[in-house]
Amino acid sequence: MSMENTVVSPTQLDIDKVRQDFPILHQEVNGKPLVYLDNAATTQKPQVVIDALTYYYQRDNANIHRGIHTLAERATAAFEETRQAVHRFINSNEPEEIVFTKGTTDGINLVAATFGRANITEGDDIIISGMEHHSNIVPWQMLCEEKRANLKVIPVNDRGEIELEEYKKLLSERTKLVSVVYVSNSLGTINPVEEIIELAHENGAAVLLDGAQSTTYLDIDVQALNCDFYVFSGHKVFGPTGVGALYGKRRHLEKMPPYQGGGEMIRSVSFEKTTYNDIPYKFEAGTPNIADVVALKAAIEYINQVGKSAMRAHEEELLEYGHRRLSAVPNLRMIGTAEKKMNVISFVFEDIFHFDIGQMLDARGIAVRTGHHCTEPLMSRFGLEGTVRASFAIYNTKEEVDQLVEGLQRIVKMMGK
Ligand code: ALA
Repeated sequence: MSMENTVVSPTQLDIDKVRQDFPILHQEVNGKPLVYLDNAATTQKPQVVIDALTYYYQRDNANIHRGIHTLAERATAAFEETRQAVHRFINSNEPEEIVFTKGTTDGINLVAATFGRANITEGDDIIISGMEHHSNIVPWQMLCEEKRANLKVIPVNDRGEIELEEYKKLLSERTKLVSVVYVSNSLGTINPVEEIIELAHENGAAVLLDGAQSTTYLDIDVQALNCDFYVFSGHKVFGPTGVGALYGKRRHLEKMPPYQGGGEMIRSVSFEKTTYNDIPYKFEAGTPNIADVVALKAAIEYINQVGKSAMRAHEEELLEYGHRRLSAVPNLRMIGTAEKKMNVISFVFEDIFHFDIGQMLDARGIAVRTGHHCTEPLMSRFGLEGTVRASFAIYNTKEEVDQLVEGLQRIVKMMGK
């Protein structure tokens, strides 16, 4: 892959060249060229990421941090280079503030089980929003149950936006943590996280940002955001599955008790007493997902080389085009029309079940997600069981949006709606 040729100008991608970077796209599904519009669930992987993974297993595979032999040193160096890459990617103050996890869900559970257990006590409040993924609801529910704390929920308006005035009313000296999604996976809403963070801090509460959907396209600067924790998954940033990162401010990470016991998280162990390693290793028990961590660096480099501004411009163009074209499909109702949103269009048809639409689109080679998208409370807010969700990435084209629209028009006609 020649990256120099992929970038045409800072704001325009050469989509044909980008598409060449992703081998999976060049296949037929059910006799039709694949149209992959399920990028909010997971993104496809460029060849450089696939190569990094195989290269690691072909050349460098060894356990890290423990061996003194050459392969162990190479594997350790590659693993730690990804930590440096993530540190620069989201601009943490130092690489030690980056903990490798299995992904966003694991990162949130880590914070709930450590920061949460240590800091939340009976009668405290944790605030989340009405558009959270189950991964940013259930860990806090479990913690609140254990600690007899209260989970408060910021309401969402009809456009799918957080109601900031209601948030202000929920905040008090009892609020210990605010945990919200930056970009909604179901609706694409971009939340006003700067304001949410500032207001939480004014009330002495820490803030966790769920960055699962925001990290690919938005410039993430955790120091400028001033969030206390930020979590994201590798597989949504063109990297491998099973790996992600948790950012935490040093002062929090140092005070937090460990998450899991064993492996790299110890300094010394006796039957009487165990002492723990420094951050971030204190939170990385057991042999980590070394190969996928190593390949995550290739994904970050890919994004850096293509350039977020060009990626974002393309995604905005597709979203605007998708909105315009889909609005003209008979009986289609969009769910989530926030003023600030990105790369997701969720919709329903009054008389056609979302699942049926998904299956009929798949028969035409078009991959979308249907259902509640792991946000059941949000769906209930809109009186729905689920939606059809088309979500875009840098390799999608306007022609693919046209194919989606044409597929939907045919389905509507066929169903006599
Ligand atoms: N959270 C992922 C999605 O939105 C799986 O589809």
